[in-house]
Amino acid sequence: MDVIRIEGGRPLNGTVTVAGAKNAALPIFAATLLTEETCTIEQVPDLSDVRYMGEILRHLGAEVERPDPHTWKITARHIKGVAPYELVRKMRASVTLLGPLVGRLRHARVSLPGGCVIGPRPIDLHLKGLARLNCGIEIEKGYVDVDGSNLKGDYLYLGGRHGSTVTGTANMIMAAVLAPGITRIESAACEPEVVDLCDMLVKMGAQIENIGSHYLRITGVDKLHGCHHRIVPDRIEAGTFLIGGALSGGDVTVENVVPGHMRSLLDVFEQANVPFDADSDGRRITVFGSRKEPRKSIEIITLPHPGFPTDLQAQMCALMALTPGLSIITERIYPNRFMHVPELQRMGANIAIEGANAIVRGTESLSGAPVMASDLRASAALVIAGLAAEGETWVQRIYHLDRGYETMEVKLQELGAKIERLPESEMPSELKGE
Ligand code: EPZ
Repeated sequence: MDVIRIEGGRPLNGTVTVAGAKNAALPIFAATLLTEETCTIEQVPDLSDVRYMGEILRHLGAEVERPDPHTWKITARHIKGVAPYELVRKMRASVTLLGPLVGRLRHARVSLPGGCVIGPRPIDLHLKGLARLNCGIEIEKGYVDVDGSNLKGDYLYLGGRHGSTVTGTANMIMAAVLAPGITRIESAACEPEVVDLCDMLVKMGAQIENIGSHYLRITGVDKLHGCHHRIVPDRIEAGTFLIGGALSGGDVTVENVVPGHMRSLLDVFEQANVPFDADSDGRRITVFGSRKEPRKSIEIITLPHPGFPTDLQAQMCALMALTPGLSIITERIYPNRFMHVPELQRMGANIAIEGANAIVRGTESLSGAPVMASDLRASAALVIAGLAAEGETWVQRIYHLDRGYETMEVKLQELGAKIERLPESEMPSELKGE
């Protein structure tokens, strides 16, 4: 296992190009199962989760080629509908295999995903939706078995206690595009990654109306054909680098962003007096961390899109830890998603957790320390906090980071950070956690 070593106190300066979105790539890979023709997917981020999804598709029988690190050609000519535990357990997003397997084969047997550190990851809404599409559902021995032999379109409501479900919406869309009749999905998730999936499905011949809204109308077709599709840029990676720029006191430009995907973060920047500029068509955004304008403490509540994304909550905790005053960050999507807080506290952050709220009292500085990554976005928060901290920070278990950020340390080096990836053996033993 590798570790990341950071020498803090150096501002980030420069431009970083954002990769394709992990959370679009994963359901889009699953969607290639809906046709026997070849789908060529470009601007695919080079991440362990994506490579893993490619392995799963191979296991299901698809031909999977990778002409270059960011381009995949997937042909699911002859596939089987069983995704075993040893494959699924490592990545929750493999639950998105359910929809396309039911749509294409009228049957799916997928191991139930485990939970993860950010909280329980139920799929009751996925199963409720499939039942509404006239599927038979059985759960036994840790597998969900879906009989879609009488699949047909219907009305379904996808709202849950925490709003809609992103992968649940993806699953319902992928089951409905080949289901006879009309499917109307109420309280659909409208995250940009769901929109990107719909855009690709339409290229494949699917009939989907009201894309981007909470109400989708899908007319089932008999067959879908192959397509070429370019993954939407990753708004979460873009946000992570912008917050890192503000935290480090440097000027960072992110390019290859999509206008409108960053509005909730830019609104938070405005409230917190973080200076930034978006160029006319919004595809480049620059944060001016070098302007020593005093940041203001704020309140943030994570919500389904277009609200503030839960995937940037940990990164904002780090920024507010170095912002004077009292900020309150409320996590409405995953109420326990605060694994980054004890690690930030080790760096001197003054954060108290009260239920689903992080009460963050800004401090003058953070001090580098050995910290432990726990999940994908928490790791990113620890890395950017290390950039701003005084002294040396070691981040362990950075395989979490590699799931969602393509060579983050290289991109940060190119922005001037003193950061390196080392084998764990090079970490002083007295610094290692258990
Ligand atoms: C997707 O997860 C993302 N992952 C997550 O990103 C992201 O945090 C999340 O959406 C919210 O935006 C992928 O797209 C691969 P949900 P997903 O179903 O689809 C509850 C990252 O860091 N719920 O929208 O699993 C659920 O417990 C990852 O990139 C039910 O109650 O999230 C949660 O509280 C982390 N029943 C809320 O809804 C269900 O059947 C949102 O979950 C499904 C979900």
